[in-house]
Amino acid sequence: MLRAYNHVPIPSFMYGTAWKKEATAQLAELAVVSGFRAIDTANQLIHYQEALVGEALQALEKRGIARDSLFLQTKFTSVDGQDHRTPYDPSADLTTQVRQSFDSSLTHLGTEYVDSYVLHGPHQRRGLGEADWKVWAAMEGLYHSGKTKMIGISNVTAGQLAELCEQANVKPMVVQNRCFAALGWDNEVRDICQAHGIIYQGFSLLTANRRVLADPEIRTIAQRLGTGSAQVIFRFAMQIGMLPLTGTTSQQHMKEDLQAEQLALSTEEIQRIETIAL
Ligand SMILES: NC(=O)c1ccc[n+]([C@@H]2O[C@H](COP(=O)([O-])OP(=O)(O)OC[C@H]3O[C@@H](n4cnc5c(N)ncnc54)[C@H](OP(=O)(O)O)[C@@H]3O)[C@@H](O)[C@H]2O)c1
Repeated sequence: MLRAYNHVPIPSFMYGTAWKKEATAQLAELAVVSGFRAIDTANQLIHYQEALVGEALQALEKRGIARDSLFLQTKFTSVDGQDHRTPYDPSADLTTQVRQSFDSSLTHLGTEYVDSYVLHGPHQRRGLGEADWKVWAAMEGLYHSGKTKMIGISNVTAGQLAELCEQANVKPMVVQNRCFAALGWDNEVRDICQAHGIIYQGFSLLTANRRVLADPEIRTIAQRLGTGSAQVIFRFAMQIGMLPLTGTTSQQHMKEDLQAEQLALSTEEIQRIETIAL
C-alpha cells in the first residue's frame, strides 16, 4: 500500500480498463480475482466502459469481494476529450458538468463514493487556464463532500503540476501520466510529486518503452530474477516510488505482473534503468 499526503491508502499496482470495450466487465473481474485491488476507469465512452466496470463490481460482490475492499478510480473528461456521448450536459457550466459526470460515474459503478477522482487532463498544453481552475474547484468540492477520498490530475506537465500545487486549495493526491524512459521516466513530474506527497501513477510503461523492454541489460536482469522484461519494468517503477498501471488482457500476464511486487532490484540495477534510454 502507498499513502498520499492525506494518508488515504492506495494499492501499489493498478489495473487499467481502457480499450477493453465489451470485454471490460469480464477483464476487470478477472483482474480482481487474479489479485488486483485497484481499478482505473473514466467516464469517457471513447476509451472506457465505466458501466461495465460497475457490472464487474456486482459480479465480484456475488463472489464475496466487497466494494469497500477495492480501490476505484475514475475521471472527469472535458468536452474536448469526449465524442457526442458526453456523460453530462455539454452546454452546462463547468461546475455542473463535473457534478453531473461524477454522479453518472457513481451510477455506472453502483457505488456511493469513489476512492480517487482524476481530471483527465488540463484544457491546454501549457499552464492552467480559467477552465482548469473551475474544474479543479468543482473537484475540490467533491473531495470536501467526502464522495471521493482523493483527487488528482492526469496528462500534466511539470509546470502545470507546480502551478496546481502552489495555487490550489486542495493539492492533488495523485498524478497519472504516460511514462517514457527517454524522458527520464517523467522525473521532473515525479520530483514534484515526491516533494508534495503525491502518488505518481505511471501508464504505458510497456507500450511507450518497447526498446527498453528489448534491451539486453533488462533481459539479463530478468534472467537473474527468473522473470520477464515487463515485470522488471513494473518492479523498477515500484522501487522508485511509482504506482504502475497495467492494462493487460491476459490472465497469465496479470499473474506475472503481480509477481513484480515480490521481486527486488539492486541499487545498481535501479540506477542503470533510470538512465537506460537517456
Ligand atoms: N490518463 C490517461 O490519459 C491514460 C491514457 C492511457 C492509459 N491510461 C490508463 O492506464 C492503463 C494501462 O494502459 P497502458 O497503456 O499502460 O497499458 P495497455 O495499453 O493496456 O498496454 C499493455 C500492452 O502490453 C502488452 N503486454 C505484453 N506483456 C505484458 C505483460 N506482462 N503485462 C502487461 N501487458 C503486457 C499487453 O498485451 P496483453 O493484453 O496481451 O497482455 C498490451 O497490449 C489503461 O487501461 C488506463 O486505465 C490512462
